[in-house]
Amino acid sequence: MKRHEELTKCYLEFLEQSELQDQPRNLYEPINYIMALGGKRMRPTLVLLAYNAIKEPSKNALELAHSVELFHNFTLMHDDIMDEAPIRRGKPSVHAKWDLPTAILSGDLMLIKTYQQLAKVERFSSIFPAFNIMAEEVCKGQQLDMDFEQRNDVELEEYLQMIDWKTAVLLAFSMKAGALLAGASQTEADHFYEAGMKIGRGFQLMDDYLDTFGDAYKFGKQVGGDIIEGKKTYLVLRTLEKLDAQAQEKFMALFSIQDEVEKVDKVKVAFISNGVVDDIKGAIKSCFDEADELLQRIPLQTDALNEYIQFLSGRDH
Ligand code: IPE
Ligand code: IPE
Ligand code: MG
Ligand code: MG
Ligand code: MG
Repeated sequence: MKRHEELTKCYLEFLEQSELQDQPRNLYEPINYIMALGGKRMRPTLVLLAYNAIKEPSKNALELAHSVELFHNFTLMHDDIMDEAPIRRGKPSVHAKWDLPTAILSGDLMLIKTYQQLAKVERFSSIFPAFNIMAEEVCKGQQLDMDFEQRNDVELEEYLQMIDWKTAVLLAFSMKAGALLAGASQTEADHFYEAGMKIGRGFQLMDDYLDTFGDAYKFGKQVGGDIIEGKKTYLVLRTLEKLDAQAQEKFMALFSIQDEVEKVDKVKVAFISNGVVDDIKGAIKSCFDEADELLQRIPLQTDALNEYIQFLSGRDH
């Protein structure tokens, strides 16, 4: 059984050979740019870890791993437009470096490339319907994420549904598809999916935490971006839960402060003084613990996956 570092490395070697060499340059270059920017390569690693719980990694597993990383990067290219995010992985996001129309079209092509890539995978027909359900759910999550910016009455339950859709389902799909490709039974594959959902929830909660409290250099994104955009993150919703109506109004008024630095600072202070940092850390830990337990119940070699969960729970970027 291979450990996660080795599997990520396997994928990176595969990725190096997949640069697109086509014209017009302004269509293909942004794709190569975002794919080469780096990132944790978590989704392909999860495909390979689930596959490796059953079998040694193969070319076929790498083809699947590449399709999920392409899809992920496609969602990021468009997400950065939607979130008006200037920085991705420490570099200008595609729409900032090129322009908006370029990021839209290159993103569209990435989705097409994802499908072409997925079609190379054996057992394609058993994976394809699940891929489409997942991809539609990501869109639902992304729309809710934007809708929530305009609402001040979002419930934590609604938030959890939103992050399950925008983030967790892709991780869950990666694990399930990796397991199916290696010959797992439907029941085993469903267990991987369930564990992937927990990892995904914990992972997005951590992303929310790092967006406010992370180190800008390590995180590689604009720290405070969620506050600037008025995102209804766990931190915001937990703060609201703890306040009475009058204090809630005062807290929400902070989001109208014009000066972005002052706004981020004041909201951050409110998070800290309301004790929501401990709350989010507790919520993250519960999700990863639940994932760990679910994996331990699968009668396959999941140690490397469990180790990867430990690794993810200590991340700072
Ligand atoms: C960013 O995903 C989008 C989220 C779901 C939070 P990652 O944090 O996995 O981004 P990279 O691929 O490592 O840059
Ligand atoms: C992204 O959520 C989810 C998808 C891209 C589908 P975020 O908007 O929080 O991701 P980051 O923080 O920009 O990476
Ligand atoms: Mg974003
Ligand atoms: Mg977003
Ligand atoms: Mg984020």
